[in-house]
This record gives sequence, structure tokens and C-alpha cells, in this order.
Amino acid sequence: MKKILIINGPNLNMLGKRETEIYGKKTLNQIESDCKKQCDKTNLSLIFFQSNSECKIVEKIQSISTQFDGLIINAAAFTHTSISIHDSLKLLNIPIIEVHMSNVSKRENFRKESMISPIATGVMYGFGSNVYNIAIFALELYWKNDEN
Ligand code: DQA
Repeated sequence: MKKILIINGPNLNMLGKRETEIYGKKTLNQIESDCKKQCDKTNLSLIFFQSNSECKIVEKIQSISTQFDGLIINAAAFTHTSISIHDSLKLLNIPIIEVHMSNVSKRENFRKESMISPIATGVMYGFGSNVYNIAIFALELYWKNDEN
């Protein structure tokens, strides 16, 4: 059974209340439960993690070692600033999918810069909460192609 870790950065715990015109009305718990349902259908194991602390995210990434087969990360605002998350992701030897719910390229200029993209396997943004489901599907295709 393949194992996926989804890491969520700062303020994503406020989804459902936070800028709903941009991020929609689903809470992070609802998004997690949608992702779990999707993973159950295809026999994937899923761990969902959120922190507002850069330090805790770096420590989580450092602790991954061989436990997971793929990582999906929405580093939220840390995407645009965090060299420490960038460096910690370089420790990993698994596919890394960077996701954003909003279309970051049509927002403020500071959101166009990503510290994660240069080391991500792929990047997806602009589909609302569905971006997580699309990223899970992308990982499945990635593993499938890897086997062939
Ligand atoms: C976000 C986009 C980031 O720029 C922002 O800081 C977030 C959420 C997204 O999912 O669209 O917190 O990562």
C-alpha cells in the first residue's frame, strides 16, 4: 500500500472562514475527509498534517525518511519565503507535488515566487480544494508510469 503525506502550512487551518471568495467554504477537516475517501477507493494510506509553524513543518519533513511514497505540500505563505522548507525538501527522495488552491499567478506579485517549485516533481494550482484530489491522482499516475 502506497503512503501519502499531505502537509499544509499557515492559516490553512482557518479554511472555511478565511477569504472564502478565494479559498471556498470547505474547512480543512472537510478537505481531509474528501482526500481520505479518495484514498480509500484506491487503497492508499493518507496522513494529513497542518502547522502554522515553519519549524514544525521542517521537523515533519526531516522525520519522513522512508515512511512515505509521495508528498503533497501546500506550504501556503511559506511557499514564497521559506528557504528552510526548500532545503528540508531536498532531503527527500520521493515525488513532491506542490499545490495551491488559488491561481497564484493571477494574484499579487509576491505570490508568483515559489521556494518549493524548483525542487517539486510537479506543481498544481487554481482548482480550489479539488487541487488536493488532483494531486493524489497525479501521484497515482506518477507511480504507474514509474512501474512501466
Ligand atoms: C495558498 C496561496 C498562498 O499564496 C497563500 O499564502 C495561502 C494559500 C493557496 O492554497 O492558494 O495561504 O497556498
